[in-house]
Amino acid sequence: MAEKNLPPQAASRVAELREQLNYHNYRYYVLDDPVVADAEFDRLMAELTRLEEDYGLATPDSPTQRVGAQPLDKFETVSHRQPMLSLENAFSEAEVFEFDERLKRFLKTTEEFAYVLEPKMDGCAVELVYENGRLTTGSTRGDGFRGENVTQNLKTIHTIPLSLLTEVAPAPELLEVRGEVYMDLPEFNQYNAERLARGEPAFANPRNAAAGSLRQLDPRITAARPLKIYCYGVGEVGGRNFDTHWEVLQTLKQWGLRVNPLIQRGQGIEAAIAYHRDLEHRRHGLPYEIDGMVIKVDPLTLQERLGAKSRSPRWALAFKFAATQATTRVLAIEVNVGRTGAITPMAVMAPVEVGGVNVSRATLHNEAEVARKDVRVGDTVLVQRAGDVIPEVVKVILEERPAGAEPFRMPENCPVCGTALVRPEGEKVTRCPNPDCIASLTRGIQHFAGKSAMDIDGLGEKIVQQLVDVGLVKDVGDLYHLTEADLIPLERFAEKSAQNIVSAIQASKAVPLWRLINALGIRFVGEATAQLLAQHFEELEKLMEASEEQLLHVEGVGPQVASSIREFFQSERNQALIKKLQDKGVVGLPPEPRAASLLGGKTFVFTGGLANLSRDEAKTMVAARGGKVTSSVSAKTDYVVAGADPGSKLAKARELGVTILDEAAFADLLQRST
Ligand code: IVH
Repeated sequence: MAEKNLPPQAASRVAELREQLNYHNYRYYVLDDPVVADAEFDRLMAELTRLEEDYGLATPDSPTQRVGAQPLDKFETVSHRQPMLSLENAFSEAEVFEFDERLKRFLKTTEEFAYVLEPKMDGCAVELVYENGRLTTGSTRGDGFRGENVTQNLKTIHTIPLSLLTEVAPAPELLEVRGEVYMDLPEFNQYNAERLARGEPAFANPRNAAAGSLRQLDPRITAARPLKIYCYGVGEVGGRNFDTHWEVLQTLKQWGLRVNPLIQRGQGIEAAIAYHRDLEHRRHGLPYEIDGMVIKVDPLTLQERLGAKSRSPRWALAFKFAATQATTRVLAIEVNVGRTGAITPMAVMAPVEVGGVNVSRATLHNEAEVARKDVRVGDTVLVQRAGDVIPEVVKVILEERPAGAEPFRMPENCPVCGTALVRPEGEKVTRCPNPDCIASLTRGIQHFAGKSAMDIDGLGEKIVQQLVDVGLVKDVGDLYHLTEADLIPLERFAEKSAQNIVSAIQASKAVPLWRLINALGIRFVGEATAQLLAQHFEELEKLMEASEEQLLHVEGVGPQVASSIREFFQSERNQALIKKLQDKGVVGLPPEPRAASLLGGKTFVFTGGLANLSRDEAKTMVAARGGKVTSSVSAKTDYVVAGADPGSKLAKARELGVTILDEAAFADLLQRST
């Protein structure tokens, strides 16, 4: 109450909260290394929201304002102060050597110079403008000179700071940052699956998904899309000079902007060639798509001397990877039956190499997608493979369609069990409604036994198929009835392997509850949702009894998921199956209680090296238990953890009488507080 009469105090608290929240946002989203628990972050955010509301103090760059802007009618146009150029492409090492020689001729030098080597992100190029450290405008590249003003959409991306961090380097008066907005592949796949489930068309690749998401007039739609950014350069900068591109990137990091950790600096063009080879190997292990690397001359004086041609700078080159698209012919269109009975049409094609991998099948998603792309047997199609995304048909080359090619028609009956297929009103997915269909049963059992479900070792695709084919397993409950004597007579089984499978099945009876929930194969409930449900309900019975309303109270559960869960547990068949599992001793163990941790609210300082943990890991472990890590020792510090070769912080801790832990004592404390 006193606050109402003391706006100056409120104003300074608002400033303090914003600074803290900006910092925590940076730790969490940019560094992936939070120093406070989520609940603490939420508490600070709630306090700030309340103060801003009470005193009308909200400003556009406040961390409370990421989502909240009203939908637009259309995007305004923004001129880039400096054009956003594109890059010249090279596809071979020879072209890259030529580039280096061309630069040396231009600069009349024979000396090697430094290059900065960066992954070439495959997303959507944007520009962020910071004036005196505050994000004022964000735009798309457009035609390079003028783009669309998508500020309110960019603000919803958590890896984009609304204010620059100024702890290490002061904010410049003006900063135009260029970067690539993209979507990680796992999120992209998940998001596409959700779209298809809702009957919306899937995006062909993460780049289209990123670009489409940025061009939403309603920022709430963008906010719900899993977008990220990597920054790779600057346009105009006022009030700060740089000597090298490397220094630019390092400074962007200091300002809290996200820069790809795979960037390197190397002397001479050979370094670029080596980087490309290395990146090509690492590429498929990366969570996001890249289509090559970018080679940039490091010293800015040289960049200036080299200048630009009309559309691309002379000092940079994109060294692309081999194409991930190819054309081939469709030999047949088959349909697959999935775990939930969903029927997926698949194109069977003449084998073709796409980005180094042989492809002969591609998903066509559903009936409507086949119709939209009008893929027919005999057609020549463009196929693409994007990272670990399933190969897809991009489009039909209509000019090459053979005479008499017939449009695809969904079969009327399940190709496996013959049951008439159904496609409910308003849904895009056709299903086999037979709960005993061998195809969905087999997939369901595979899912049940999978790594993120019951994790039954050795129960692979072939064996599951065999168990279903011979009629030994008619539902997942039957697995727990299996004996060695049942298995030994079967092909591919010997005494030892039968023993192993039976004991692996028996060993899976007690699993964490979330695994059991995931194993049940409820539509729209994957690993992550299963974990949320397990945390919330703690017992399977409680989840089974939960009303839609109660389900909606679980964070991350929306109406579609809630109704799917209700439907699943209301089915008598599923109830009987769960009883059967329980009778056999299958239990979901409640999650470890998140006890008021020993470390809750405690402040830690680290000094010296730890033998068994990296500093980042140690920090994460403290944060996960509700503790806080700071960098300097004060009277408020609760523990100083001293590793090998501790610095002056140890002396300071002794002086102030702060508790000092060695690595073993620290490990012990962590252990006791989980
Ligand atoms: S530098 C003047 N660096 O590639 C230099 N671009 O074909 C211009 N891109 O529109 C760009 N990753 O969206 C640069 N590390 C990177 C990049 C990158 C992706 C995109 C960018 C640009 C396109 C150029």
